[in-house]
Amino acid sequence: MASEIELVDIQAGYGRAAPVLRGLTVSVPAGQIVCLVGPNGAGKSTVLKVASGLLKPRSGKILVGGVDVTGQGPQRMLASGVAHVLQGHSVFREMTVAENVLLGGYTLKDKALIAERTAFVKEVFPVVAQRWNSLAGLLSGGQQKQVEFARSLMVNPKVVLLDEPSMGLDPKATTTVFEQVVRMRDAGTAVLLVEQNARRALETADLGCVLDLGRVHISGPAPQLLADPQLGELYLGGRPAEPTAIPKR
Ligand SMILES: Nc1ncnc2c1ncn2[C@@H]1O[C@H](COP(=O)(O)OP(=O)(O)OP(=O)(O)O)[C@@H](O)[C@H]1O
Ligand SMILES: [Mg+2]
Repeated sequence: MASEIELVDIQAGYGRAAPVLRGLTVSVPAGQIVCLVGPNGAGKSTVLKVASGLLKPRSGKILVGGVDVTGQGPQRMLASGVAHVLQGHSVFREMTVAENVLLGGYTLKDKALIAERTAFVKEVFPVVAQRWNSLAGLLSGGQQKQVEFARSLMVNPKVVLLDEPSMGLDPKATTTVFEQVVRMRDAGTAVLLVEQNARRALETADLGCVLDLGRVHISGPAPQLLADPQLGELYLGGRPAEPTAIPKR
């Protein structure tokens, strides 16, 4: 299956410090969710930063739709169809929800398309529609997270990089976000997902990769990783949880 995004043999790090990623290879096919698992500091967010052009790799290649885009910055990566929802909060608090969401579509030229995408994200995230003219800083943390997610969907991206999308969300909002991830996958989007709740993420994902020492240590179909007792102990918090309500494809 052709991959929508491929990171090949990536070495990357910050400043003069030792590399965080040391020969990391990962790819995400269209219409699949790949979940990155690993402890705090393993380099999961760093993988996503490299994939969206926020951090230039020291070596290695990045391919989007088979085209070499290594070294391109975040703006060009977004124009190539790669959207990144950052870890933590990144809404502009002094701007309205509308302004925040519309920023996500600033590369779109066609007014009808902007209107269509706006209607889509309002339907998916009702809070975005309800608080459209509010200052984003007045929303709760979980509501702000949904505004960020809505912003990233404005461009109808081919690849979505999601860094801990459920962080700070209540169970209902978490379910909304996971449902949306599944919906994107089913519409053909390639999703690279990092989640603190690794078990729930793997239950939703098609493939999983375990990061260790800056490389993909183990990878395989998500159900296989979920069933691995050693992985369960190390990364998934022991025994399986109750099944979630989100149907697998
Ligand atoms: N902006 C930065 N400047 C310098 N070092 C950084 C920076 N961001 C991350 N690092 C370092 O890179 C390593 C990997 O960090 P990263 O944020 O990718 O981990 P992570 O797997 O996403 O962790 P978490 O689960 O806590 O989000 C850590 O050792 C961290 O200290
Ligand atoms: Mg992180």
